[in-house]
Amino acid sequence: MIYLDNASTTKPSSGVIDAISDALNNFGNPSSMHRLGIDAENIIKKAKENASKILSVSPNNIYFTSGGTESNNTAIFGACHANIKKGKHIITSKIEHPSVLTPFKMLEEEGFEVSYIGTDENGILDLEEFENELREDTIFVSIMLVNNETGAIMPVDKLKPIMKKKSPKALLHIDAVQGFGKVLLKPKQWGVDLLSASGHKIHAIKGTGLLYINDNVLIKPFICGGGQQKNMRSGTENVVGISAFSKACEEICNYNAEYVRNLREKLKNGILENIDRVKINEAVSEYQAGHILNVSFLGLRSEILLHSLEMHQIYVSTGSACSTNKPMPSHVLSAIGCSAEEIDSAIRFSFSEDITDEDIDKTIEALIKEVATIRKYVRK
Ligand SMILES: Cc1ncc(COP(=O)(O)O)c(C=O)c1O
Repeated sequence: MIYLDNASTTKPSSGVIDAISDALNNFGNPSSMHRLGIDAENIIKKAKENASKILSVSPNNIYFTSGGTESNNTAIFGACHANIKKGKHIITSKIEHPSVLTPFKMLEEEGFEVSYIGTDENGILDLEEFENELREDTIFVSIMLVNNETGAIMPVDKLKPIMKKKSPKALLHIDAVQGFGKVLLKPKQWGVDLLSASGHKIHAIKGTGLLYINDNVLIKPFICGGGQQKNMRSGTENVVGISAFSKACEEICNYNAEYVRNLREKLKNGILENIDRVKINEAVSEYQAGHILNVSFLGLRSEILLHSLEMHQIYVSTGSACSTNKPMPSHVLSAIGCSAEEIDSAIRFSFSEDITDEDIDKTIEALIKEVATIRKYVRK
């Protein structure tokens, strides 16, 4: 099996599986006062430390959630509702994940005014448009770190200085689900107020994630009840999931970004050298994450190629598989100016350190064969 769909989800590492089994034996409730409770509480404490190291922030600012979607929803609804008296203008981009775009649409229905910022043809946030849209009454901005379809890295480090000039009250939220542990991430230095990450993108398990909330950020809790996690997220903590996420955070510290980028470059060059009528949907190298490669194979439908590759046990995606399993035109590729044909024929390859050079050679071989076969069939 050659699994090239790591932006959808990743395989839990063996270290993570061991951590899960240990945590299952440590079954105490972290709120209990006896030893079993304290053992479970210590797992959570350690997890906060491991996660905070990736962000270079204090463990006290980490809250565990059920994943990127919950973190994004909590940040967006929680901060916008808590700060409504300061203004009703909020900003995001056109290429966000549905777990950001849908809450924004819902807030728009509630009466918030929303600006959706576009990108240049490389899929990078248009900073000039961003600056122009900022207003005195802007209270919240949400921009992703790495786009899940193209791998373009957004200039999130440049946002807060611009915001301070024009919208000093506005909070900055970063959806870092696709970049966490894989690309440069300095929330403190960049003035980030809230940040979302997800465990299953870094070899932990589904249903795990975190929300970083900086000190003094006014935010309403999303889940209320017993007051766990400093009242921000009530409910007995998912100790097993948190320990899986904790181990994955520890392991991702050794992430070999250069190795993964080389796999991407090898596949990209192999495609360009051997297959005609292809378009690489990417940013300039400085703004391109090394673990995602989006390619349009013109003259065919991407689902057909996806299933042809599946016969070789090569698993890829047509776009953002985790947002929908129904084929829908990609709002991301459309926003960055791709034609209908480029969108219909786009395949996303996403890499992990488990992939080898040999896997890439086999993938190129399979692509050469399958693209030619499908195109021949389409022409007839
Ligand atoms: C950029 C981005 N944000 C949010 C999410 C949602 O994360 P989760 O699947 O953990 O809810 C995803 C999932 O693919 C994503 O790619």
